[in-house]
Amino acid sequence: MLSYRHAFHAGNHADVLKHLVEVLILQYLVQKEVKPLRYIDTHAGPGISRLQGSFSIKNREFASGIARLWGRSDLPTPLQHYVNVVRSVNASSELLFYPGSPAIAAAILGPAHRLQLFELHPTDASSLGKWAARDRRIKLQRADGFVALKAILPPPEKRALVMIDPPYEVKTDYDCAISALKMGCKKFATGVYALWYPLLDRKDVSAFSRRLKLLPVKSLMVEFPVQPLAGEGMRGSGLFIVNPPWTLQQQLEECLPYLHTALAESGAPLWTTRRCGD
Ligand SMILES: C[S@@+](CC[C@H](N)C(=O)[O-])C[C@H]1O[C@@H](n2cnc3c(N)ncnc32)[C@H](O)[C@@H]1O
Repeated sequence: MLSYRHAFHAGNHADVLKHLVEVLILQYLVQKEVKPLRYIDTHAGPGISRLQGSFSIKNREFASGIARLWGRSDLPTPLQHYVNVVRSVNASSELLFYPGSPAIAAAILGPAHRLQLFELHPTDASSLGKWAARDRRIKLQRADGFVALKAILPPPEKRALVMIDPPYEVKTDYDCAISALKMGCKKFATGVYALWYPLLDRKDVSAFSRRLKLLPVKSLMVEFPVQPLAGEGMRGSGLFIVNPPWTLQQQLEECLPYLHTALAESGAPLWTTRRCGD
Protein backbone atom coordinates (compact mmCIF):
# COMPACT_ATOMS: atom_id res chain seq x y z
CA MET A 1 0.00 0.00 0.00
CA LEU A 2 1.46 3.35 -1.01
CA SER A 3 -1.17 5.97 -0.25
CA TYR A 4 1.03 8.25 1.88
CA ARG A 5 2.20 11.45 0.11
CA HIS A 6 4.63 13.55 2.06
CA ALA A 7 3.79 16.80 0.21
CA PHE A 8 0.53 16.99 2.21
CA HIS A 9 2.58 17.24 5.39
CA ALA A 10 5.67 19.18 4.22
CA GLY A 11 6.93 21.66 6.81
CA ASN A 12 4.62 20.53 9.62
CA HIS A 13 5.72 20.22 13.27
CA ALA A 14 7.07 16.71 12.67
CA ASP A 15 9.21 17.90 9.75
CA VAL A 16 10.49 20.77 11.90
CA LEU A 17 11.70 18.37 14.62
CA LYS A 18 13.09 15.78 12.17
CA HIS A 19 14.86 18.28 9.95
CA LEU A 20 16.24 20.24 12.91
CA VAL A 21 17.84 16.99 14.12
CA GLU A 22 19.09 16.21 10.59
CA VAL A 23 20.68 19.66 10.19
CA LEU A 24 22.42 19.47 13.58
CA ILE A 25 23.80 15.98 12.96
CA LEU A 26 25.07 16.77 9.46
CA GLN A 27 26.62 20.08 10.46
CA TYR A 28 28.43 18.31 13.30
CA LEU A 29 29.66 15.48 11.04
CA VAL A 30 31.11 17.78 8.40
CA GLN A 31 32.32 20.67 10.57
CA LYS A 32 35.98 19.70 10.86
CA GLU A 33 36.18 16.34 9.18
CA VAL A 34 37.40 16.51 5.61
CA LYS A 35 36.83 12.81 4.99
CA PRO A 36 33.85 12.03 2.75
CA LEU A 37 30.53 11.21 4.36
CA ARG A 38 27.59 9.25 2.96
CA TYR A 39 24.02 10.39 3.59
CA ILE A 40 21.62 7.47 3.23
CA ASP A 41 17.87 8.11 3.16
CA THR A 42 15.75 4.92 3.17
CA HIS A 43 12.45 6.81 2.67
CA ALA A 44 13.43 9.97 0.81
CA GLY A 45 10.06 11.49 -0.21
CA PRO A 46 9.64 13.96 -3.11
CA GLY A 47 12.78 16.05 -2.44
CA ILE A 48 11.32 19.51 -2.37
CA SER A 49 7.71 20.68 -1.92
CA ARG A 50 6.02 23.78 -3.25
CA LEU A 51 4.02 25.07 -0.31
CA GLN A 52 1.51 26.78 -2.58
CA GLY A 53 1.17 23.52 -4.56
CA SER A 54 -2.07 21.58 -4.56
CA PHE A 55 -0.94 19.02 -1.95
CA SER A 56 0.54 21.36 0.66
CA ILE A 57 -2.16 23.99 0.34
CA LYS A 58 -4.84 21.39 1.02
CA ASN A 59 -4.08 20.89 4.71
CA ARG A 60 -1.75 23.88 5.24
CA GLU A 61 0.18 21.81 7.80
CA PHE A 62 3.22 24.06 7.26
CA ALA A 63 1.18 26.93 8.75
CA SER A 64 1.48 25.35 12.21
CA GLY A 65 5.09 24.25 11.58
CA ILE A 66 7.83 26.08 9.67
CA ALA A 67 5.64 29.16 9.03
CA ARG A 68 5.63 29.90 12.77
CA LEU A 69 9.45 30.12 12.77
CA TRP A 70 9.78 31.99 9.50
CA GLY A 71 10.64 35.66 9.92
CA ARG A 72 11.36 35.32 13.64
CA SER A 73 14.46 37.15 14.81
CA ASP A 74 14.75 35.54 18.25
CA LEU A 75 15.43 31.92 17.32
CA PRO A 76 17.92 29.94 19.42
CA THR A 77 21.12 29.45 17.39
CA PRO A 78 20.64 25.75 16.47
CA LEU A 79 17.08 26.46 15.32
CA GLN A 80 18.35 29.40 13.28
CA HIS A 81 20.74 27.00 11.50
CA TYR A 82 17.76 24.86 10.45
CA VAL A 83 15.71 27.86 9.30
CA ASN A 84 18.74 29.09 7.33
CA VAL A 85 18.75 25.81 5.39
CA VAL A 86 15.04 26.27 4.59
CA ARG A 87 15.87 29.83 3.50
CA SER A 88 18.55 28.51 1.15
CA VAL A 89 15.88 26.88 -1.08
CA ASN A 90 13.71 30.02 -1.13
CA ALA A 91 14.94 32.74 -3.46
CA SER A 92 12.99 35.52 -1.74
CA SER A 93 11.93 36.28 1.83
CA GLU A 94 8.61 34.57 1.13
CA LEU A 95 8.23 30.96 2.31
CA LEU A 96 7.33 29.21 -0.96
CA PHE A 97 9.34 25.97 -0.91
CA TYR A 98 10.12 23.43 1.76
CA PRO A 99 13.14 21.11 1.46
CA GLY A 100 12.62 17.45 2.28
CA SER A 101 15.31 15.42 4.03
CA PRO A 102 17.41 14.83 0.84
CA ALA A 103 17.30 18.52 -0.11
CA ILE A 104 18.42 19.44 3.41
CA ALA A 105 21.37 17.06 3.13
CA ALA A 106 22.21 18.36 -0.36
CA ALA A 107 22.27 21.93 0.99
CA ILE A 108 24.68 21.08 3.82
CA LEU A 109 27.04 18.57 2.20
CA GLY A 110 29.92 19.70 0.02
CA PRO A 111 31.13 18.12 -3.25
CA ALA A 112 33.21 15.40 -1.52
CA HIS A 113 30.15 13.79 0.05
CA ARG A 114 27.59 11.37 -1.40
CA LEU A 115 23.82 10.97 -1.05
CA GLN A 116 22.12 7.61 -1.55
CA LEU A 117 18.33 7.82 -1.68
CA PHE A 118 15.50 5.28 -1.82
CA GLU A 119 11.89 6.09 -2.61
CA LEU A 120 9.21 3.58 -3.57
CA HIS A 121 6.26 5.73 -4.67
CA PRO A 122 6.40 6.19 -8.48
CA THR A 123 5.27 9.84 -8.45
CA ASP A 124 7.50 10.89 -5.55
CA ALA A 125 10.45 8.93 -7.00
CA SER A 126 9.91 10.79 -10.27
CA SER A 127 9.78 14.21 -8.53
CA LEU A 128 12.88 13.28 -6.57
CA GLY A 129 14.62 12.18 -9.79
CA LYS A 130 13.86 15.53 -11.46
CA TRP A 131 15.09 17.46 -8.43
CA ALA A 132 18.30 15.36 -8.20
CA ALA A 133 18.97 15.09 -11.93
CA ARG A 134 21.93 17.41 -12.22
CA ASP A 135 23.54 16.64 -8.88
CA ARG A 136 26.35 14.14 -9.42
CA ARG A 137 26.65 13.45 -5.69
CA ILE A 138 23.22 11.79 -5.65
CA LYS A 139 22.33 8.20 -6.40
CA LEU A 140 18.60 7.51 -6.38
CA GLN A 141 16.86 4.14 -6.57
CA ARG A 142 13.17 3.40 -6.75
CA ALA A 143 13.41 0.55 -4.27
CA ASP A 144 12.34 -0.59 -0.82
CA GLY A 145 14.69 1.28 1.51
CA PHE A 146 14.36 -1.28 4.31
CA VAL A 147 15.46 -4.10 1.99
CA ALA A 148 18.13 -2.09 0.16
CA LEU A 149 19.85 -0.90 3.34
CA LYS A 150 21.26 -4.33 4.11
CA ALA A 151 23.14 -4.50 0.81
CA ILE A 152 24.81 -1.08 1.11
CA LEU A 153 26.17 -1.21 4.66
CA PRO A 154 28.88 -0.53 5.57
CA PRO A 155 29.29 2.31 3.05
CA PRO A 156 32.70 2.70 1.33
CA GLU A 157 33.34 5.99 3.18
CA LYS A 158 32.87 4.23 6.57
CA ARG A 159 31.15 7.43 7.77
CA ALA A 160 27.41 7.92 7.32
CA LEU A 161 24.15 9.31 8.55
CA VAL A 162 21.31 6.87 7.85
CA MET A 163 17.87 8.53 7.95
CA ILE A 164 14.99 6.09 8.43
CA ASP A 165 11.67 7.88 7.96
CA PRO A 166 8.88 5.43 7.05
CA PRO A 167 5.27 6.61 6.71
CA TYR A 168 3.98 3.94 9.17
CA GLU A 169 0.90 3.58 6.97
CA VAL A 170 1.25 -0.15 7.46
CA LYS A 171 1.79 -1.63 10.92
CA THR A 172 4.74 -3.69 9.70
CA ASP A 173 6.77 -0.45 9.33
CA TYR A 174 7.34 -0.51 13.10
CA ASP A 175 8.93 -3.97 13.06
CA CYS A 176 10.82 -3.22 9.85
CA ALA A 177 12.24 -0.03 11.39
CA ILE A 178 13.53 -1.89 14.45
CA SER A 179 14.95 -4.71 12.31
CA ALA A 180 16.67 -2.17 10.04
CA LEU A 181 18.29 -0.48 13.04
CA LYS A 182 19.43 -3.79 14.53
CA MET A 183 20.82 -4.97 11.21
CA GLY A 184 22.49 -1.60 10.56
CA CYS A 185 24.14 -1.47 13.97
CA LYS A 186 25.46 -4.99 13.45
CA LYS A 187 26.90 -4.42 9.96
CA PHE A 188 28.01 -0.83 10.50
CA ALA A 189 28.29 -0.17 14.22
CA THR A 190 29.91 3.27 13.94
CA GLY A 191 27.21 4.77 11.70
CA VAL A 192 24.86 7.49 12.92
CA TYR A 193 21.19 6.47 12.52
CA ALA A 194 18.14 8.70 12.93
CA LEU A 195 14.75 6.96 13.08
CA TRP A 196 11.61 9.11 13.06
CA TYR A 197 8.30 7.90 14.55
CA PRO A 198 4.89 9.43 15.29
CA LEU A 199 3.48 9.88 18.78
CA LEU A 200 0.00 8.39 18.65
CA ASP A 201 -2.42 7.67 21.43
CA ARG A 202 -2.07 3.96 21.00
CA LYS A 203 -0.64 1.32 23.29
CA ASP A 204 1.32 -0.40 20.55
CA VAL A 205 3.13 2.84 19.74
CA SER A 206 4.26 3.53 23.30
CA ALA A 207 5.39 -0.09 23.25
CA PHE A 208 7.47 0.95 20.21
CA SER A 209 9.32 3.63 22.26
CA ARG A 210 9.96 1.03 24.94
CA ARG A 211 11.38 -1.41 22.38
CA LEU A 212 13.69 1.29 21.04
CA LYS A 213 14.98 2.12 24.53
CA LEU A 214 15.87 -1.54 25.05
CA LEU A 215 18.18 -1.72 22.01
CA PRO A 216 21.79 -2.25 23.17
CA VAL A 217 23.13 0.89 21.45
CA LYS A 218 24.30 4.34 22.46
CA SER A 219 21.35 6.56 21.66
CA LEU A 220 19.43 9.74 22.23
CA MET A 221 15.63 9.75 22.17
CA VAL A 222 13.71 12.99 21.74
CA GLU A 223 9.92 13.16 21.90
CA PHE A 224 7.99 16.35 21.15
CA PRO A 225 4.21 16.29 21.67
CA VAL A 226 2.30 19.23 20.18
CA GLN A 227 -1.13 18.16 21.44
CA PRO A 228 -2.46 16.44 24.56
CA LEU A 229 -1.66 12.74 24.17
CA ALA A 230 -5.27 11.51 24.45
CA GLY A 231 -7.06 11.76 21.12
CA GLU A 232 -7.11 10.64 17.50
CA GLY A 233 -4.23 11.01 15.06
CA MET A 234 -0.63 12.11 15.42
CA ARG A 235 -0.08 14.02 18.68
CA GLY A 236 3.58 14.81 18.05
CA SER A 237 6.68 12.93 17.00
CA GLY A 238 9.94 11.48 18.17
CA LEU A 239 13.38 10.55 16.93
CA PHE A 240 15.66 7.79 18.06
CA ILE A 241 19.26 8.62 17.21
CA VAL A 242 21.99 6.00 17.42
CA ASN A 243 25.56 7.23 18.01
CA PRO A 244 24.40 10.85 18.34
CA PRO A 245 26.93 13.69 18.24
CA TRP A 246 27.77 14.58 21.86
CA THR A 247 26.54 18.12 21.20
CA LEU A 248 23.06 17.12 20.03
CA GLN A 249 21.17 16.77 23.31
CA GLN A 250 22.30 20.18 24.54
CA GLN A 251 21.45 21.83 21.21
CA LEU A 252 17.96 20.28 21.28
CA GLU A 253 17.44 21.37 24.88
CA GLU A 254 18.26 24.89 23.72
CA CYS A 255 15.53 24.77 21.04
CA LEU A 256 12.72 22.69 22.56
CA PRO A 257 11.36 25.31 25.00
CA TYR A 258 11.11 27.76 22.09
CA LEU A 259 9.51 25.13 19.84
CA HIS A 260 7.03 24.19 22.57
CA THR A 261 5.90 27.81 22.86
CA ALA A 262 5.77 28.28 19.09
CA LEU A 263 4.21 24.99 17.95
CA ALA A 264 2.47 23.17 20.81
CA GLU A 265 -1.20 23.56 21.70
CA SER A 266 -2.19 24.25 25.28
CA GLY A 267 -2.32 21.05 27.31
CA ALA A 268 0.44 19.36 25.29
CA PRO A 269 2.92 17.60 27.59
CA LEU A 270 6.50 18.88 27.64
CA TRP A 271 9.18 17.37 25.39
CA THR A 272 11.61 14.78 26.68
CA THR A 273 15.19 13.96 25.73
CA ARG A 274 16.82 10.86 27.08
CA ARG A 275 20.19 9.24 26.52
CA CYS A 276 20.42 5.46 26.63
CA GLY A 277 23.30 2.98 26.51
CA ASP A 278 26.06 5.27 27.84
C1 LIG B 1 7.59 10.31 5.67
S1 LIG B 1 7.85 10.25 3.97
C2 LIG B 1 9.53 10.72 3.77
C3 LIG B 1 9.80 12.16 3.99
C4 LIG B 1 11.24 12.56 3.82
N1 LIG B 1 12.14 11.64 4.49
C5 LIG B 1 11.46 13.95 4.36
O1 LIG B 1 11.79 14.09 5.53
O2 LIG B 1 11.30 14.91 3.59
C6 LIG B 1 7.97 8.53 3.66
C7 LIG B 1 8.23 8.20 2.19
O3 LIG B 1 8.57 6.82 2.11
C8 LIG B 1 8.03 6.28 0.90
N2 LIG B 1 8.00 4.82 1.13
C9 LIG B 1 7.05 4.07 1.74
N3 LIG B 1 7.49 2.81 1.91
C10 LIG B 1 8.75 2.77 1.42
C11 LIG B 1 9.76 1.77 1.35
N4 LIG B 1 9.56 0.55 1.83
N5 LIG B 1 10.96 2.09 0.80
C12 LIG B 1 11.19 3.33 0.30
N6 LIG B 1 10.28 4.33 0.34
C13 LIG B 1 9.08 4.06 0.90
C14 LIG B 1 6.71 6.99 0.75
O4 LIG B 1 6.31 6.98 -0.61
C15 LIG B 1 7.05 8.40 1.27
O5 LIG B 1 7.43 9.24 0.23
